[in-house]
Amino acid sequence: GVTRHYTFNIMYHNVTRLCHTRTILSVNGQFPGPRLVAREGDRVIVKVVNQVSNNVSIHWHGVRQLTSGWADGPAYITQCPIQTGQSYTYNFTITGQRGTLLWHAHISWLRSTIYGPIIILPKRNQSYPFQKPHKEIPIIFGEWFNVDPEAVIQQALQTGGGPNVSDAYTINGLPGPLYNCSSKDTYKLRVKPGKSYLLRLINAALNDELFFSIANHTVTVVEADAVYIKPFDTDQLLIAPGQTTNVLLRTKSYLPNATFFMEARPYFSGVGTIDNSTTAAILHYNNHSSSSSSSKLPVLRPTLPPINATGFVANFTSKFRSLNSVKYPANVPKTIDRKFFFTVGLGSNPCPKNTTCQGPNGTKFSASINNVSFVMPSTAILQAYFFGQNNGVYTTDFPVNPPLPFNYTGTPPNNTNVSNGTKTVILGFNTTVELVMQDTSILGAESHPLHLHGFNFFIVGQGFGNYDPNNDPKNFNFVDPAERNTAGVPAGGWIAIRFLADNPGVWFMHCHLDVHTSWGLRMAWIVLDGPQPNQKLPPPPSDLPKC
Ligand code: C2O
Repeated sequence: GVTRHYTFNIMYHNVTRLCHTRTILSVNGQFPGPRLVAREGDRVIVKVVNQVSNNVSIHWHGVRQLTSGWADGPAYITQCPIQTGQSYTYNFTITGQRGTLLWHAHISWLRSTIYGPIIILPKRNQSYPFQKPHKEIPIIFGEWFNVDPEAVIQQALQTGGGPNVSDAYTINGLPGPLYNCSSKDTYKLRVKPGKSYLLRLINAALNDELFFSIANHTVTVVEADAVYIKPFDTDQLLIAPGQTTNVLLRTKSYLPNATFFMEARPYFSGVGTIDNSTTAAILHYNNHSSSSSSSKLPVLRPTLPPINATGFVANFTSKFRSLNSVKYPANVPKTIDRKFFFTVGLGSNPCPKNTTCQGPNGTKFSASINNVSFVMPSTAILQAYFFGQNNGVYTTDFPVNPPLPFNYTGTPPNNTNVSNGTKTVILGFNTTVELVMQDTSILGAESHPLHLHGFNFFIVGQGFGNYDPNNDPKNFNFVDPAERNTAGVPAGGWIAIRFLADNPGVWFMHCHLDVHTSWGLRMAWIVLDGPQPNQKLPPPPSDLPKC
């Protein structure tokens, strides 16, 4: 591979959407941010320079970061944030991955405007395991707030209530014509008839899983989270924040200037308020020869599943299967060293004395894994671990199995309190892990897109209701399960994943709905060094930020 150099200047940038102008944080004055393009096997070096007054850090979401954990990016997990006027150079190699991923800020809610595509092309003389597309187009979903999202989350954390929702969803940064004052801010994809386009779908929205569909077109899903899958056709997709999905769009022989809407709107299974609006972009047929066509053709709109279509979601996600070919095998761990059962869901923290809180029954909203709401330390865990200074930073007593047998999907308990702590789990190098994650209905069943840093995992099983350790494993798929870095724990259900802990370092795992992360639905794994030199985490780069 070659080495590719980028400079990301974190800078202010004025953006107007929905007739509101806001000064946002951007990379290089671009919104969405620049594309990071590399081939499998390339080294990527990104110098990030902080020219704003917020602390920042950037995460290369889904990049495996084999023995390069110092470049992963989540603030206070692998690094202290980059302070105003400082810089940090991320240096990593793309190993064994090709497809689409994303990069985004990984501190507080700065991801709301600091995000962009990572495009990993196959090695130079290798082709796709599907028809070579005529063109490749990133389609990145986001959320637009008319106000500063930092103020939104700070207020929510202070009052204990739910945050205000966004004002629009966006496609490539643009809300589209279904919003007031937005028709000129519409992404338009011009296509020729009879060609194949690879759409690289990325969900960078802060807090919403999204349905997506293109009027009158069926697409073929070929890749997810930078792993090839067995292709399947669909009219409607679900994509959770942090997930990436490559689809082939074959254009038809339509009349020139035929116009189709591509739309996205949320899937929401929980209770509470969300922004239930629709973003649209335009697919426009344009075959140069007859630009004189004057007849105005009708605009066609797609059909999207209803907002709470949990059945559709379960059916759709079960269609993802690893390609599992000779060239791209699915290396599912067959024997398991350690099994874990984690509950994920919302809960609450008591309201401090003499204050009023706006969460459930006057408490503060919280979220937890095995009832532990993860508290961010004030220095980076990886640094503390590497230099043996964990005292006062983190503990290694994460409760690996929940405290009591419990009907997770039954009647909510009276006491919805969580405990708080910075607790981790230590894994020996090359441990094979099976992790079952169970959604709780303590404050309402809800889908949680869980993201694991540093690894891909295989989704060997999923189901509704309470996980049954005696019977459910009988139906696990060890042959061609989907391999991903982000997967939804179904609302009122469970998911079973397997991974090989072959990457030394500290690896964050969290719900990719940022409000849930902020409430504590997060934890970290510590994977120890292996015996060989190439199985050890090297010392940190000299410019690693200090807290
Ligand atoms: Cu895409 Cu920890 O994040």
